[in-house]
Amino acid sequence: MGEKLKRILTGVQSTGVPHLGNILGAIIPAIEFSKKENIKSYLFIADFHSLTQIKNSEELKKNTLYTAAAWLACGLNPDKTVFYKQSDIPQVSELAWYLSCFFPFKRLSLAHSFKDKQDRLDDVNAGLFNYPMLMAADILMYDADVVPVGKDNLQHLEITRNVANRFHNVFGNTFTLPVGHLQDDTKLITGTDGAKMSKSKNNIIDIFADEKVLKKQIMSIKTDSTAIEDSKDWKNCNLFKIYRLLAKKDEIESMKKNYELGGYGYGQAKKELLNLILKKYELERGRFQHYIANADKVEKILKDGAKKANVTADKVLNRVRKKLGY
Ligand code: ADP
Ligand code: TRP
Repeated sequence: MGEKLKRILTGVQSTGVPHLGNILGAIIPAIEFSKKENIKSYLFIADFHSLTQIKNSEELKKNTLYTAAAWLACGLNPDKTVFYKQSDIPQVSELAWYLSCFFPFKRLSLAHSFKDKQDRLDDVNAGLFNYPMLMAADILMYDADVVPVGKDNLQHLEITRNVANRFHNVFGNTFTLPVGHLQDDTKLITGTDGAKMSKSKNNIIDIFADEKVLKKQIMSIKTDSTAIEDSKDWKNCNLFKIYRLLAKKDEIESMKKNYELGGYGYGQAKKELLNLILKKYELERGRFQHYIANADKVEKILKDGAKKANVTADKVLNRVRKKLGY
């Protein structure tokens, strides 16, 4: 007998085209993880979570397509992965309800998902407040062992384990307790303004955008006002921080030297970054356009994935219902 299969699971909200932070922080590490031996992977589009922010059905649909296309473009193999959208498995909202009845209001009010956005969103709705319970249900529903996420989602994982334990304290062992998995050097990708790259902050780099848009995003990266001829501080430069994540070792060294030597402008460095992205992600950019143009193909892939996800979801939910006496 081989080693027991480990289940990994992760989701990305469909609130726009996934940006470089989502791709390096969540999508690519999850795909790489899913290729390892003895791994069964569940990768999904968190389109119920998106409803906390977006109330337009066309937009929701479009974003689901963009997000699915990004996963597929980055190399997700739907034959080897259970790839689905959250709304195709509505049982998850039932589990979220059960879990929310086990978690204290006070602790939930400390969750980042709610705290970070409460001063930015016009409608801080109950869904946003309950976001971590739905996320806990996403994870516990599939007996996930490992959840690859960016740093900002680690607190949600803690909440997931916590609520599972609270349930266990009353009804005995029921759920698998998951652990988070952080990518070391890409755990927090900075945006064009130097803050965390985020769809809601308008500071993203969209590697799938057409060249003109991508160029505009790169040109908007904030740099200091050091003159071209002067030596520049690569250690604290937003532009360099992004470049070093993508470039090869010798390319990084060469840009470092250019910074230190002076006579090298930020405009030139930005051009290098643009060319690097266009070259490095040429294949992904092509695939992305292919999936966008073939939405029905993407929908079919997601429906096939949902069929597989459904089997596990029903199994776990029945386990929970039995304990609760429903
Ligand atoms: P956003 O903040 O743009 O709305 P999401 O909250 O939808 O992004 O995040 C989707 C996934 O991508 C999560 O696992 C999250 O941790 C990861 N992620 C988001 N932004 C970044 C970033 N700047 N650096 C690294 N990972 C990120
Ligand atoms: N909260 C994640 C995000 O920031 C999305 C998400 C929803 C998720 N459910 C999940 C991630 C379950 C990992 C596991 O986009």
